[in-house]
Order: sequence, then C-alpha cells, then structure tokens
Amino acid sequence: MALLDILTYPDKRLRQVARPVETVDDRLRQRVDDMFETMYEAPGIGLAAVQVGMGERVVVIDVSEDKDRPLCLVNPEIVASSGVEEMEEGCLSLPGVYGLVSRSAEVTVRALDRQGEPFEMQADGLLAVCIQHEIDHLDGKLFIDHLSPLKRRRAIKKLEKAKKRES
Ligand code: NI
Repeated sequence: MALLDILTYPDKRLRQVARPVETVDDRLRQRVDDMFETMYEAPGIGLAAVQVGMGERVVVIDVSEDKDRPLCLVNPEIVASSGVEEMEEGCLSLPGVYGLVSRSAEVTVRALDRQGEPFEMQADGLLAVCIQHEIDHLDGKLFIDHLSPLKRRRAIKKLEKAKKRES
C-alpha cells in the first residue's frame, strides 16, 4: 500500500468530471486500498479518487468511530433522496475550512463494490452527507460551491492565507 498525495484547492484537477470505471480489477483494488490508507492517515472520513489525481468514479468512506466500517463505492449513483439536513462540512482538499451545507437527509445509492458487484444501500445522517459530498467530487464540485457567495469568498480567503503561511 502507499500513501497518495491529496490535491488541494485551487488545483484544477479537482474540477474535472470523473469517468465511469469500466472494469473493477486488481489495479483498481490496489488504488482503492491506497485511497483507504491515505484517508485514514489524513485523517478523514471520505476521499474521492479525483482528490488523488485519479479521474475515475471511485470513493472511499468510513464514518465509524472505530474506523472499522470501510465503504468503497465504484460508479456511485444516488437513485433516491429525501429530507433536508444541514451539517458543518470540511474537506481534505480545503484544509482548515468549514461551512454549513444543506443536503438531502436520506439517500439511496447504487454502486459497485470492491469486487465489482452491484449493490444498493440506504444512508442517513453523517453517512448520507458524506456520500453526497464525495459524489460531488466526482462531478468536479466542492462543498464551498454550496455556500453563499459571501461565505464562499471568506472560505477562499482563509485558504489563501493558510497557503501563504505554509510557503
Ligand atoms: Ni471533500
């Protein structure tokens, strides 16, 4: 396994729309394992392939307290959603920035698993929010896109300041 570099805003690759995975093979499984390792190490609760410079529709998630519920979604699709939930979100690609985002409270997702087997699942709470956040990444979207223009500008300023401190 290997730790992957996580792209950070404003890297243009974060704005790419990822393409569907055609075959779930050992190469892809290796990438999935690397993504899990990178996410746990960060630490984060979700990571999309786009964030590590890979242009395929793959996300890894683990919102469990003990980090023992890895969830891999290949070509995920939200097929039903209901309710509204507001939650404070952050993102490994936007370090130090948080914002209140409004999303569906419950979602039904269709995807392939790590073996390439299709499955469907329902999620609510933090898991539902995380799934929507990660699928956004596959479409080149970031959580700050959901903020009001004013809050988005503030968030971006904060990021730029943090970047300057680093360099
Ligand atoms: Ni993110």
